Amino acid sequence: MFKPRRAAFFSKMEKNSLAVIPAGREKIRNNDCEFPFRQSSDFHYLTGFNEPGACLVLLKDDESCKAILFNRKKDKSAEVWHGYRLGQSAAVSELGFDSAFAIEQFEHHLYELMDGLTTLIYPTFQDAELDKSLSAVVNKLRGSARKGAVAPTLIIDSSRILHEMRLIKSESEIELLSQAAEISASGHIRAMQSCRSGMWEYQLQAELEHEFALQGAPATAYNSIVAGGESACILHYTENNRKLRDGNLVLIDAGAEYQGYAGDITRTFPVNGVFSEPQEKLYQLVLDVQRSAISQVKPGAALIDINKNAVQQLVDGLIELGLMQGDSEVLIKDEVYKNFYMHGIGHYIGLDVHDVGDYGTLENPRLLEVGMVVTIEPGLYVGSDADVDEQWRKIGIRIEDDVLVTEHGAEVLSADVPKSITEIEALMADAKQHG
Ligand code: GLY
Ligand code: MN
Ligand code: MN
Repeated sequence: MFKPRRAAFFSKMEKNSLAVIPAGREKIRNNDCEFPFRQSSDFHYLTGFNEPGACLVLLKDDESCKAILFNRKKDKSAEVWHGYRLGQSAAVSELGFDSAFAIEQFEHHLYELMDGLTTLIYPTFQDAELDKSLSAVVNKLRGSARKGAVAPTLIIDSSRILHEMRLIKSESEIELLSQAAEISASGHIRAMQSCRSGMWEYQLQAELEHEFALQGAPATAYNSIVAGGESACILHYTENNRKLRDGNLVLIDAGAEYQGYAGDITRTFPVNGVFSEPQEKLYQLVLDVQRSAISQVKPGAALIDINKNAVQQLVDGLIELGLMQGDSEVLIKDEVYKNFYMHGIGHYIGLDVHDVGDYGTLENPRLLEVGMVVTIEPGLYVGSDADVDEQWRKIGIRIEDDVLVTEHGAEVLSADVPKSITEIEALMADAKQHG
């Protein structure tokens, strides 16, 4: 699937242009230890090649299109210490590049390749080393103008082409996203089944991520959030180091990464398996809003409008429950609701959990299209200092699913994990009864 993607990219390049897409770089964690390597999503999308120390060059001149890989040389000693390297000849025979060179020769070859072209396409200002390297090559060409060298004068950010491509998912990408969502769902189910009062949040995280790995996803798409009680009011809580207490809810926002594609699911459930009355009321409100939002996902809809409707429903519900007083129009206009709901309704999801792609502007939002995949994730967060009756405080709830835009509306890819109160309580009761 990677060669056709390169062909699609070429078809969107002007003649006499050259695109440079770098691989991800290894990052030091602490002395002699690196963070687990994760390939750059753009580079993966066009190559499927999972090594660092590489760069893809796509050259389109008057006569032809050439895909050239720069990658690490075979090196016996380095491979004994650090692992297998594909090398140049296999890059051509196995991955279908027109040619491959050692990464050390990148600037040297690029000087030759770029000479006489009008346009340079690359991810601008994102990779300081690449910026520096390209700047050296372009300036060397400029410096050789009197000898007949010609440097490109038009610089285009590669995201204009690539991120538009990544926004609309192909059949095979939809399949991988479905699998990522299904694996994520089984992790959430296991967490619901194994949750007990007195566990540490990181122990519940271990249950969840254990299931991801058992199902074929060795990595998470982002740092898992396992937040008991009040911690759920911290949107990106990842400390996961507190005890789960009887009577509290626990919010889990976690997703598996499957062959590069992200799952992103949030469920909120009672640590002891049974919702209290205030928890139940707030939960049902969020669930009603989430279901309503999913029902609005279809081609031509805008996330921003779906969010507006969600805000309206949340505010009406909070007024009805007595957490807010006054006129809903004023509460919305003055953004008072942001005390309880301070994020958006969702985002694109794909190779990145917050995937790339144009959202348009507030006045002119990008409309949903068949093949986009988005999350729908309303929430309510009532902190310990909220100006509400005591019973509502320290409750954070978010419910999040991954949703494919289809011709007729939407398909929920993460539907396997229960979200109604009765389903959650039944699942948890059953797990307690049977061990
Ligand atoms: N897990 C990050 C998000 O839901 O956007
Ligand atoms: Mn999300
Ligand atoms: Mn999430």
